[in-house]
Amino acid sequence: HPDLTPAPHALSRNRTHANSAQTPPDSRRDPPPPPQMQTLTASTSVSSIQRHRPRPAGRSSSVSFTARAVSSVPRAPSGAARAPAPSQFVRGADAKPLIAVPKAPAVERQEKKLNFFQRAAATALDAFEEGFVANVLERPHGLSRTVDPAVQIAGNFAPVGETPPVHALPVTGRIPPFINGVYARNGANPHFDPVAGHHLFDGDGMVHALRIRNGVAETYASRFTETERLQQERALGRPMFPKAIGELHGHSGIARLALFYARAACGLIDPSRGTGVANAGLVYFNGHLLAMSEDDIPYHVRVTDDGDLQTVGRYDFDGQLECPMIAHPKLDPATGELHALSYDVIKKPYLKYFYFAADGTKSADVEIPLDQPTMIHDFAITENYVVVPDHQVVFKLQEMLRGGSPVVLDKEKTSRFGVLPKCAADASEMVWVDVPDCFCFHLWNAWEEEETEEVVVIGSCMTPADSIFNESDECLESVLTEIRLNTRTGESTRRPILALSEQVNLEVGMVNSNLLGRKTRYAYLAVAEPWPKVSGFAKVDLATGELTKFEYGEGRFGGEPCFVPMDPAASRGEDDGYILTFVHDEAAGTSELLVVNAADMRLEATIQLPSRVPYGFHGTFVTGKELESQA
Ligand SMILES: [Fe+2]
Repeated sequence: HPDLTPAPHALSRNRTHANSAQTPPDSRRDPPPPPQMQTLTASTSVSSIQRHRPRPAGRSSSVSFTARAVSSVPRAPSGAARAPAPSQFVRGADAKPLIAVPKAPAVERQEKKLNFFQRAAATALDAFEEGFVANVLERPHGLSRTVDPAVQIAGNFAPVGETPPVHALPVTGRIPPFINGVYARNGANPHFDPVAGHHLFDGDGMVHALRIRNGVAETYASRFTETERLQQERALGRPMFPKAIGELHGHSGIARLALFYARAACGLIDPSRGTGVANAGLVYFNGHLLAMSEDDIPYHVRVTDDGDLQTVGRYDFDGQLECPMIAHPKLDPATGELHALSYDVIKKPYLKYFYFAADGTKSADVEIPLDQPTMIHDFAITENYVVVPDHQVVFKLQEMLRGGSPVVLDKEKTSRFGVLPKCAADASEMVWVDVPDCFCFHLWNAWEEEETEEVVVIGSCMTPADSIFNESDECLESVLTEIRLNTRTGESTRRPILALSEQVNLEVGMVNSNLLGRKTRYAYLAVAEPWPKVSGFAKVDLATGELTKFEYGEGRFGGEPCFVPMDPAASRGEDDGYILTFVHDEAAGTSELLVVNAADMRLEATIQLPSRVPYGFHGTFVTGKELESQA
């Protein structure tokens, strides 16, 4: 089944944001030029796609369906497939030096061979999709902002083509020599134009990687993670797998599910090889850089010697993992264990916990009994426990029969956290603590406090809880919060960490990963203002609420800040390290990587990137030592 599992991050509504925007010209459709080194000077059209036009009154619609007819039958060979061309190197008007950007080689599409029956079935199903699903069920009703591609992938949320490794990037300032490795960041980057609803989380995974060594920015590259889904769709020349959030709601969602199953039954697609997009998280574990979304098992992506990215394939931990895994597994810095969850939206058990020892050996699953399937995007670990949120955003597939979204806010349910020993054999040792009306999409850290016998959890509490998925008139708030769970009394308390006067939406970020699960003083979090854009990041003193902001400046936005800690043996303190983050200048159309000293929050270096980097999701830093030990 296609899991209805939303991937990460937020995009919903920003009341000050224009309601619709023109989608960018799709440079990915340009016929790919022959492989060659070419010097580029022209700027992209990014700035032009920022112009928003006013939205007509009412709920619908800036829907812009792709004009071309639906067709599952592979078209006649067209030579090169739509190999995405690399985006051009864009610099400010005063920029002189240019970087030679190798053009992407033409990727031959391996067209799927269909027999007579399959061709007939494909044609009939295409006619059903175009004539009934699209024309009767979808187009007349328009799309809400949360699934309107013209909103969801507008501006710098729009996808880019791949960029093969570009070497010797220009640097302003000085990159601290201790930063040695690859900063890799995941994101959603739809390969095909949406044909119906599309949510930001639905896009195909693309990893952007920047290799830094000895104070030099050696290479930048971006590549699609070659998921089974992407490869099958590429072979057919169009999207075929349902989009978990953008398409699977209401009656049209049921019809699209039926189409999906029918196409699978005819052998047009094979969902048994995985349906995930691998677009949300990245973790380096036991020699493998893993790209993850919670609707599938991870994909192994290898960083090559020349700084490129190569998808090795779906990675089931040598046959040990048989179910999807969430995109936020937790690496324990003391033990090297990787702790993870898996949730199921259809059948029990709805939730499982497991972990991998440092050598990759998987533990037995612990089935966690839940009354209903629940969206659990993230969790936390302490030294001895895992902390599992069981909140009010749940899956009710029957809501689709009533025309609604299957992702709903269950106001009758009481939010709670479960605290389970990491090595528990079953869920009988789990202690549940109610935390009413709490919804944390992400949790930044947790630790045990002996004096009070409490587990302290640091997360961002989001209201309305379902606003990422369902349109709402309320403004979204994401409040950095300390939640205290007393596992002895079953009581909880919560408090906002920032003073009311300082309140800003803080989403996506991290603590010093060498201290994950232990008491930390600082968290580094994106300032998600104006939502869903990120205008800077903040270093927050979790005890005092002191907030130190690093702002990107007018018209400049970024995403998750990645904290690269100093080697523990040489570290002078918890905040001894550097923040890496991609920033995009919307007027100039340029993208950069900033290196900021976390101790004093001063900019150390700016690395100019050869092409536009869309706003994305989560990243990680893979050290030079780890790169050498890749599988
Ligand atoms: Fe996430």
